[in-house]
Amino acid sequence: MSDDISSSQSSVDLSPKFCRLEYRTPAYEPLAALYKDALGLNEVEPGLLRSVDGGFELAFKVLPDSTRDSETTVGLYHVAFLLPSRAALAATLRRVFAAVRSATERRAETAAPDGARSAAVNGFSGPAFFIEGATDHLVSEAVYLRDADGNGVELYADRDPSEWRRDAEGNIAMDTVELDMAGLLASAPSTEGICAGSSIGHLHFHVPDLDSAEAFYRKNLGLKVTQRRYPGARFLAWGGYHHHLGINTWAKDRRAPQGAAGLVRVRLSEPPPGASPSSGAEPQPGAVPRRELGPDPAGIIWSW
Ligand SMILES: [Fe+2]
Repeated sequence: MSDDISSSQSSVDLSPKFCRLEYRTPAYEPLAALYKDALGLNEVEPGLLRSVDGGFELAFKVLPDSTRDSETTVGLYHVAFLLPSRAALAATLRRVFAAVRSATERRAETAAPDGARSAAVNGFSGPAFFIEGATDHLVSEAVYLRDADGNGVELYADRDPSEWRRDAEGNIAMDTVELDMAGLLASAPSTEGICAGSSIGHLHFHVPDLDSAEAFYRKNLGLKVTQRRYPGARFLAWGGYHHHLGINTWAKDRRAPQGAAGLVRVRLSEPPPGASPSSGAEPQPGAVPRRELGPDPAGIIWSW
């Protein structure tokens, strides 16, 4: 039995928060079609999007020469936006589906006579984003998307923690079963973007090796394992959450080329448990982070 799993608390503690993610991209506009137009994040300035209550932001640094890699590589698997309720998830999904429908209609209207698709946004010729799947994970209901650069995005809502189950070893029961999409959508007739009270609930990375990655995140970020029985994956959390970080080896050791598009930095709202506090004043919103860590086994830099 793992000390981590057996020592997990029953209460849910969602801090520290993921307050800023920084990406490298060859073009911002195709990403805005998802994060701004479909998901409803506020554009503070081109390339900087913020949640409606300011709880988190996404920063996209445009480097025209950065490449989009079609193959799965070590690095980000997905960023998961946690909606505060099932109805809030349903309302956001309705907005995403509406955006997909209108984009499909626009592409059909602008299709070239020879059948080739015209550029959808500012010369970008691929789909701005697409819906990959939907899953019931027992602890949560989730829908998966992929943005124009191939970055994974999960939209999810948790079931009440009182419904989470643990096995005899303390692993929080998580599975991949069919989602009741009709029931989910029926929970909200409205259409809304990612609403106030939403957060970045977890991140999921491709890493080359589970054991060494687990050791890194335990030692440096104070994360504890909550589930180690999932094939090729492991889940870690602060407090008693089901996971703030998922890691898997499904990309094996494939590496993206230097300077590839994707997630490069993660900022936490406060030091993770066990991190030595820096001297000096408390951090202010927008202040330069005081501590940096990494790159981690997924090639990501962390700061707080
Ligand atoms: Fe996830």
